[in-house]
Amino acid sequence: MTVETLHDKFVYELQQVYYIETELVDILDEMVESTADETISEGFETHQRETAEQARRLEGVFDALDEPTELRQCHALDGLIEDRQAFLDSAVADTDLIDLYNVGAGVKVERLEISAYEGLLTHADRLDLPNEVTEPLEENLDQEEATLKELKGTMSGSTVHQLLGRLMG
Ligand SMILES: [Fe+2]
Repeated sequence: MTVETLHDKFVYELQQVYYIETELVDILDEMVESTADETISEGFETHQRETAEQARRLEGVFDALDEPTELRQCHALDGLIEDRQAFLDSAVADTDLIDLYNVGAGVKVERLEISAYEGLLTHADRLDLPNEVTEPLEENLDQEEATLKELKGTMSGSTVHQLLGRLMG
């Protein structure tokens, strides 16, 4: 696709966020399985279900724009996935360290998603796009912000404190 207008840029970036949500459905599955702590793992499980919903909402946005539902690779997400794999490959099977990494990785992904949705919504406003486009994007943004808040709560909460306590012996 050739990007010539702000509308084209909007669609280009919508395709990337669709890629992010679609990939994350699988990645979160893996994060649920690789996280030993039940509370943290359940948090990822809830967000995995939300992520599947978010991908469906984006399909509605493509429809509302009368654009084909297409994926566009997002190298930033792929990089985060590769970084996590490299960590897992280097981490001695210490489940506390892996859990801590997963929480931090979750925060990075949420920040990436939040930036993507904020950018799209700014363009949508400028392009005067209808509610069928902006509402699903706003709902997704709200969910990402709630998830980021939860993850940050986890970072400073008792579960992570216990993990840190064990790691610091
Ligand atoms: Fe998401």
